[in-house]
Amino acid sequence: MNESLTQSVTDSFAQCADGRTKEIVSALVRHLHAFAREVKLTHEEWRRGIAFLTATGKKCDGIRQEFILLSDTLGLSIVLDDINQHHDEHATESSLLGPFYRDGVKESAFGANIAQSDGEPVFFHGTVSDVHGKPVADALIEVWQTAPNGMYEGQDPDQPEGNLRGRFRTNAEGAYAFHSIKPTSYPIPTDGPVGQMLVATGRHPMRPAHIHFRIDAHGYEPLTTALYSSDDPYVKSDAVFGVKPSLVIEYVPGKEGYDAARDFVLIPRERA
Ligand code: BEZ
Ligand code: FE
Repeated sequence: MNESLTQSVTDSFAQCADGRTKEIVSALVRHLHAFAREVKLTHEEWRRGIAFLTATGKKCDGIRQEFILLSDTLGLSIVLDDINQHHDEHATESSLLGPFYRDGVKESAFGANIAQSDGEPVFFHGTVSDVHGKPVADALIEVWQTAPNGMYEGQDPDQPEGNLRGRFRTNAEGAYAFHSIKPTSYPIPTDGPVGQMLVATGRHPMRPAHIHFRIDAHGYEPLTTALYSSDDPYVKSDAVFGVKPSLVIEYVPGKEGYDAARDFVLIPRERA
């Protein structure tokens, strides 16, 4: 009887003209019904779920997107990245873009310093090549990270414009280099329903220290990724599940502060 009810609902979409819409709403209904049956959802729990989603919507505005944060903290965003990424065993893995990317940052010279905050100095360097080992010259590399107070420029009026954001080009050998400071772990926003969900489920809100990278080069699939610090206490419990073992790096003591070396590997567009 239960299965025939689910069938009746999915049958109600029979006249849906758009095949993809029909596929998505039918699967949604099947999974929703199965979920409610599996946990034997009560009316009170259903009401609380509706209230939670209503509060999540009310928390959204032009800047804050609580539904995306919910998707991030439930692991849905990283599942989507995985489904939609072009896979190649030799290519660098992707990670979450997050809400703090900003376009329009001024391009800096090879080796420039992006930090206007005090912190532990780091020299980031490496190469961009393709899956066949060919260096990728003139690739656009965008980077952004938090200041030692755990905030991105844009969240924090006390940080100078463009602090800890950089835009670089690889040279003829596919190399990139810039100076910065060691990234810091930080909490995702907790002053909304997602924060309440984390408390109710016994979870912490921390993202392990990381620096974001976006790499774009003519003829290659764009790459959005991040490098995570191996010595961070949250590296195995990221609140938004963005860490992949291949993206964890070591900060090695160098000449002045730390040295962070990482090569990136892109997938040629024609193979996609
Ligand atoms: C970030 O890494 O910037 C981020 C990602 C997901 C949610 C919040 C922040
Ligand atoms: Fe981040």
